[in-house]
Amino acid sequence: MSRPLPDELLKVPHRRDVPFARLTTLGVGGLCRWLFEPTTEAEAQAFVRACAREGLPYRVLGGGSNLVVLDDIEVPVLRLALPKELHRDGTSLTAPASHGHIALAEAAAAAGLSGLEFAGGIPGSLGGAIRMNAGAHGCEWVEVLERFRFLTPEGDLVDKAPDPGEFGYRRSFLGGGRIVLSASARLAEGDPGAIRARMAGFRDRRSASQPLAVRNAGCIFKNPPGQSAGRLIEQAGLKGLRIGDAEVSPRHGNFLVNHGHATAAEFAELMERVRAGVRAAHGLLLEPEVEIWQDGTPPAAGGR
Ligand code: FAD
Ligand code: EPU
Repeated sequence: MSRPLPDELLKVPHRRDVPFARLTTLGVGGLCRWLFEPTTEAEAQAFVRACAREGLPYRVLGGGSNLVVLDDIEVPVLRLALPKELHRDGTSLTAPASHGHIALAEAAAAAGLSGLEFAGGIPGSLGGAIRMNAGAHGCEWVEVLERFRFLTPEGDLVDKAPDPGEFGYRRSFLGGGRIVLSASARLAEGDPGAIRARMAGFRDRRSASQPLAVRNAGCIFKNPPGQSAGRLIEQAGLKGLRIGDAEVSPRHGNFLVNHGHATAAEFAELMERVRAGVRAAHGLLLEPEVEIWQDGTPPAAGGR
């Protein structure tokens, strides 16, 4: 970013030159040149308004568990650092978007609230989970989402219930510079022991098939309708394909793992080799599920 950042923006708490290896679960990428960490909704709004006024693009980061960062990122990156307060109203549970996603599922279980068991093995933040409409074991966020609050790219606050078409399989309308600030889940009363047991069952299934001991970003590609990307990758003979420290997991074909020192370039190449291999074997082009951040393809002004 060659031009100086405006003073109103620099009033928002920020850090310089933070390696994406520390901000993402996959552990690759260059430096986050400007990491803004608002601790209140008002600071987040000030960030967005300052960017909008200047026509300055920015990106939004949560727990970094669905990201492959390929470069240094020069544009401002916003990662919410709101107080971890939960609010219960009957069977509805509200949390700030920066709340840990797994921690939220555990808090719901401890409170005897059922409905977030599927979330107990999905890392990252609540905001990232709403943005991605994260899901597992036959359930996804939109099914329990009661209301959510977000900032528009102009910096206006919106509080609403989900409408049809706003969320789909691993997608939502909440990109394009929108920032989820908080969300409420509509849950049901249940026995904490039974809820925890259901969550433990899901976790056991997950650890039996996913390579959770090595760094990864979850499934790299979306499942094509009616198919499993992992199975397609396995059938194409790509499991165990390795470039440097980046490997197609021998355990689950749709997980690319970092054995420790993989580089962003190795991951980019491995993703392309897997797509090409699946296309050659099955005639299908896999669509990335992860978001890829590359500074050479800057987000639209006013956010991404
Ligand atoms: P990030 O990776 O930081 O960002 C992802 C996207 O969300 C980006 O577009 C970012 O701009 C946007 N974003 C983040 N926060 C906000 C916000 N507050 N407002 C607006 N946009 C925001 N996913 C599943 O769906 N199901 C699974 O079963 C699953 N299993 C996984 C298992 C492992 C081991 C790992 C590492 C990942 C898994 N994932 C799974 C992927 C990932 O955890 C989810 O997509 C998660 O919801 C991403 O949240 P995050 O906070 O880490 O988002
Ligand atoms: N399979 C293979 N080979 C593999 C991987 C899977 O043959 O290498 C087969 C399995 O044996 C099974 C089928 O494919 O018959 C489906 O596999 P799995 O149950 O592991 O589910 P998935 O479709 O690969 C999806 C989500 C996961 C989520 C699980 C559990 C996508 C892209 N993936 O995986 O989400 O955790 O279901 O609900 O939708 C993510 O989104 O990041 C993610 C990890």
